[in-house]
Amino acid sequence: MRLYGITLERGLLLAPLSGYTNWPMRILSRRFGAELCYTEMISAEGLVRNTKNTLCLLKRPPQDAPLIAQIFAHSSSDAALAAKIIEDAGFDGIDINMGCPVKKVVNRGAGAALMRDVPLAQHLTQAVASAVSIPVSVKMRAGWDSASINARELAGAVEMAGVRCIILHPRTRMEMYKGIPRWELLSDLRRSTAVSVVASGDIRIGSDIERLRALGADGFMVGRAAVGRPWIFRELAGGKPPDIDERREIMLEHLDMLCSLYGRQKGTVFMRKFISGYVRGIDGASRFRSLACKAASFQELQAIIKRLPASRDSGM
Ligand SMILES: Cc1cc2nc3c(=O)[nH]c(=O)nc-3n(C[C@H](O)[C@H](O)[C@H](O)COP(=O)(O)O)c2cc1C
Repeated sequence: MRLYGITLERGLLLAPLSGYTNWPMRILSRRFGAELCYTEMISAEGLVRNTKNTLCLLKRPPQDAPLIAQIFAHSSSDAALAAKIIEDAGFDGIDINMGCPVKKVVNRGAGAALMRDVPLAQHLTQAVASAVSIPVSVKMRAGWDSASINARELAGAVEMAGVRCIILHPRTRMEMYKGIPRWELLSDLRRSTAVSVVASGDIRIGSDIERLRALGADGFMVGRAAVGRPWIFRELAGGKPPDIDERREIMLEHLDMLCSLYGRQKGTVFMRKFISGYVRGIDGASRFRSLACKAASFQELQAIIKRLPASRDSGM
């Protein structure tokens, strides 16, 4: 299958996750089989105004490819200018966020708020698609709330505006991340649009992929299930889960990469977000978690990880 003009063997994608999918998480996910990754959402306005923290989100090592940059925007002109910056920075595609439910974003008319204003969503998409020559996609939800399910209408509008791919997380903005995804909307989009359709939501095991493929999905995006579990992509391709030694090595490498991105202090604190995922299901996980999350320095956390597996005998 091809997405953004890139040939993929299995269609396994790492989702954009704000606060998580920086280059260390992307590099590890790729190693285990993620074929295409996304940046976390980036403010188009921040990019255009050259905000330091925003520009940082574009940084990545050369092996972090292929990579799609995701923007959120309310203004079509900011979105188009940001798209040009992203194209010039060598990204393989641009995704426009029309699904973020967070108040800070929707109150500014971006993210899922665009689902309530289809003409603006279409105008903004068109502005981006005509500003660049790299492929453009839109990531959307089912609708704003259960009384206004309009993914099909929005998909038609952005298809006309020039997108090559639609990513559907079929919950409403009001549902946030809970409740059963409305997968019937995926087959609906498959029938009503000619562009590629990617499924996002609760993909955890191989049978999820088979089910979504049967509904017409061209790609399978994994988000929460990849946090602290980059090997999920290997498992989804039929491979084995890691043993403790492998988990330990991955955690140490993840910590190292975070420290090279943020410096030792911030990198060590950032690593806490992943600890639960890394040790879920193993003996002594809860003791390990509480020790690791209290580690005051890089050296301390590194030593705790090296002592995995946690056991009462080893003093953990
Ligand atoms: C902490 C968190 C941050 C997220 N950040 C983004 C984001 O920056 N852009 C985006 O399009 N979706 C974002 N999402 C939504 C995910 O990409 C995905 O669509 C959703 O979590 C459902 O997939 P999952 O069940 O595989 O996590 C975020 C979700 C979570 C839980």
